[in-house]
Amino acid sequence: MRTVLRIICIISASISSGNCIICVECSNNYGLDCVGNLVTCGTCMTNVTMEINGTENATYTVKKTCALNLETCNVTYSLSSGNFKTNHMSSCCDTDYCNNNTAQVPPRNDTENGVECPSCDQIYVDSCVVNGTVRCTGSETKCLKFTGQYVMLETCQPNAFQGCVTENVCEHPDDIPLYPKAQICGKNTLQCSAGNSSAPIP
Ligand SMILES: *[C@@H]1O[C@H](CO)[C@@H](O)[C@H](O)[C@H]1NC(C)=O
Ligand SMILES: *[C@@H]1O[C@H](CO)[C@@H](O)[C@H](O)[C@H]1NC(C)=O
Ligand SMILES: *[C@@H]1O[C@H](CO)[C@@H](O)[C@H](O)[C@H]1NC(C)=O
Ligand SMILES: *[C@@H]1O[C@H](CO)[C@@H](O)[C@H](O)[C@H]1NC(C)=O
Ligand SMILES: *[C@@H]1O[C@H](CO)[C@@H](O)[C@H](O)[C@H]1NC(C)=O
Ligand SMILES: *[C@@H]1O[C@H](CO)[C@@H](O)[C@H](O)[C@H]1NC(C)=O
Ligand SMILES: *[C@@H]1O[C@H](CO)[C@@H](O)[C@H](O)[C@H]1NC(C)=O
Ligand SMILES: *[C@@H]1O[C@H](CO)[C@@H](O)[C@H](O)[C@H]1NC(C)=O
Repeated sequence: MRTVLRIICIISASISSGNCIICVECSNNYGLDCVGNLVTCGTCMTNVTMEINGTENATYTVKKTCALNLETCNVTYSLSSGNFKTNHMSSCCDTDYCNNNTAQVPPRNDTENGVECPSCDQIYVDSCVVNGTVRCTGSETKCLKFTGQYVMLETCQPNAFQGCVTENVCEHPDDIPLYPKAQICGKNTLQCSAGNSSAPIP
C-alpha cells in the first residue's frame, strides 16, 4: 500500500512539481488522538481545537489531512465571550508521517490585555442580546460580532456570538473558520471593531 502511494505521489509531484510526502488523514471530535488512512500530500496539516463552555471541562478536537493552502499553516487564533472560549491551531510539516504524533493545543493565555468587548453567545437565535462585558486576554485584541448558520444535530441552525477575538480572524475570515468543528450551512456575517466599546456593536 505504501509503495503504491509512493508511486502515485512521485508521479503527481512531478506533474505539479511539488513535494511528495505521506501524511496521516483522520479526525476525532472527542479528543486529540486519531488513527486513519495514509494519503499523499504536498504538506501535512494538523488542526486542533479546544473549547470551554461555561463551567464544563475543556473539550478537544483534532483533524489531520493535507494542507491545501500554505497560508493556512501554522495559524493560532482564539475567541472568548463571558461564557464560551475556544482556541485553534493549525500546524504543518513536510516529512513522511510527520503529522502522526499526538497533537497538542497550546494553553490559553489568560492574562488580561486591557481590551474589553460586549459579550453574548447563544445558539438557535439570529442575533444575541449583549448581557455583559468580557475582558479580553492574550492576543484577543478585537471585538467580534458574528451571526451564522451551522449544522447542529443534523439540521441547519443559527448561532450568534459577541466577544473578544484575535485580529487574524478579522483579517482572513475566509481562511480561518470560527467554529471549525461545525459545518457551515447558511450565510455568515462577521464584523470586527476596536476594543473598549462597552456599547453593543450596532
Ligand atoms: C453550552 O452549554 C449549554 C448548557 O449545557 C448548552 O445549552 C449550549 O448549547 C452549549 N453551547 C455550545 C456552544 O456548545
Ligand atoms: C472534569 O475533569 C475532571 C478532572 O479530569 C474530572 O474528574 C471530571 O469528572 C470532569 N467532569 C466532567 C463533567 O466531565
Ligand atoms: C510551519 O511550522 C513548521 C515547524 O515550525 C515549519 O517546519 C514549516 O515550514 C512551517 N510551514 C509553513 C508553511 O509556514
Ligand atoms: C503512527 O503512530 C502510531 C502510534 O504511535 C503507530 O502505531 C503507527 O505505526 C504510526 N503510523 C505510521 C504510518 O508511522
Ligand atoms: C480600555 O478601557 C480600560 C478601562 O477604561 C483602560 O484601562 C484600558 O487602557 C483601555 N484599553 C484600550 C486598548 O483602549
Ligand atoms: C449572559 O447570558 C448567558 C446565556 O443566557 C448566561 O450564561 C450568562 O451568565 C449571562 N451573563 C451575565 C453577565 O449575565
Ligand atoms: C499573554 O498575554 C499578555 C497580554 O497580552 C502578554 O503580555 C504576554 O506576553 C502573553 N504571554 C505569553 C506567554 O504569550
Ligand atoms: C485547518 O485550519 C486552517 C486555519 O484555520 C483552515 O484554513 C483549514 O481549513 C483547516 N483545515 C481543516 C481540514 O479543517
